[in-house]
Amino acid sequence: MAKTLITGGAGFIGSHLIHLLVNKYPGEQFVNLDALTYAGNPENLKAIEDAPNYRFVKGDITDFAFLEQLFAEHQFTGVIHLAAESHVDRSIANPMAFIMTNVVGTVNLLNAAKNSWQSDYSGKRFYHVSTDEVYGSLGAEGLFTEETAYDPRSPYSASKASSDHFVRAWQHTYGLPVVISNCSNNYGPYQFPEKLLPLMINNIRHEKPLPVYGDGSNVRDWLWVEDHAAAIDLIFREGREGETYNIGGNNECSNLGLVHQLCDVVDDLLGRAPGSSRKLITFVKDRPGHDQRYAIDASKIKAELGWEPTIGVEEGLQRTAKWYLNNTEWLERVTSGAYREYYAQQYQ
Ligand code: NAD
Ligand code: DAU
Repeated sequence: MAKTLITGGAGFIGSHLIHLLVNKYPGEQFVNLDALTYAGNPENLKAIEDAPNYRFVKGDITDFAFLEQLFAEHQFTGVIHLAAESHVDRSIANPMAFIMTNVVGTVNLLNAAKNSWQSDYSGKRFYHVSTDEVYGSLGAEGLFTEETAYDPRSPYSASKASSDHFVRAWQHTYGLPVVISNCSNNYGPYQFPEKLLPLMINNIRHEKPLPVYGDGSNVRDWLWVEDHAAAIDLIFREGREGETYNIGGNNECSNLGLVHQLCDVVDDLLGRAPGSSRKLITFVKDRPGHDQRYAIDASKIKAELGWEPTIGVEEGLQRTAKWYLNNTEWLERVTSGAYREYYAQQYQ
């Protein structure tokens, strides 16, 4: 029976992926390995936590002895690796945590899979979930393709780029059957409110300033998180071994434009006067080394696997804002305690 290890499944994208897989494949087993850092939240998995084909294991991918034991116990047939330190601003403040989890943790997992599979790779797959930030920063023109040269510029993106290189090295050197995807900015429910959209929704709710970095002209390509989960499922099952797939939303927006749209959606949902939340926008000190523009050419995954985003940013913003406004207890819980210290330090 197929038994897949998913790392980082208590985080934002991982929890959406686990909901999808556990419900869609009742005849397969899924083990979620997560260290439950500040970003991991078992509450995100309440709906499936008792499913017979699901099991949660608390553990750290930087601990190799623990990983070897886990692989020996479970005899996994596949790995989908999402566990990571994922926030660029935190990587600027504390790069070492990113190197430990994203680089050392990934190499540990590669070694644990290689040792467990002992060169009998039939029916096995190691899927590494990565980011478009490895490609660096675009000017006004052009798109990231799978051939774009790596040019990471933040400690976070350098750690992810490094992990991608190690995954490819394990394929070329040891024959490990790998596949990699590089995705653009995700948004939707369960995203930790250190990231742009949930942070802004939370601040709008409390009528606090909305901190836009620099002049707000930086561009990101926004993807509804469930579309990313669907792409991961497809690539894991049907992607060609050794290949890389770019995943994007075809939804380029400047940060300021996106925050304007969000303000209007939330004002409408809260019955506030049109334009009132836009007045909360405050331009703050720019992120050091802030990448100007990310945009994905997702034609390969469309041509090979038939995947396309299904939710545009207008619909996605409505759904996202409604979810956070209907789940204020979730928001309150994750923004108490350590979040306040983080916020005070980051936004002074
Ligand atoms: P997240 O920060 O919400 O979740 C990360 C999860 O990993 C958390 O549950 C955390 O507890 C766990 N984790 C962290 N360190 C760990 C360790 N040492 N051992 C075990 N578990 C650990 O991240 P996310 O936004 O869901 O991103 C998931 C993956 O997708 C990451 O690899 C990220 O680089 C990639 N990605 C994210 C986006 C995005 O827009 N969020 C876009 C493209 C790619
Ligand atoms: O592109 C994929 C990446 O997208 C993922 O690999 C990362 O894990 C994920 O965090 C995200 O990175 P970004 O740095 O693009 O996301 P973030 O939400 O932090 O910021 C989005 C944009 O908004 C970015 O240009 C910085 C800006 N920003 C962010 C915050 C938190 C602000 O202007 N103000 C803010 O308070």
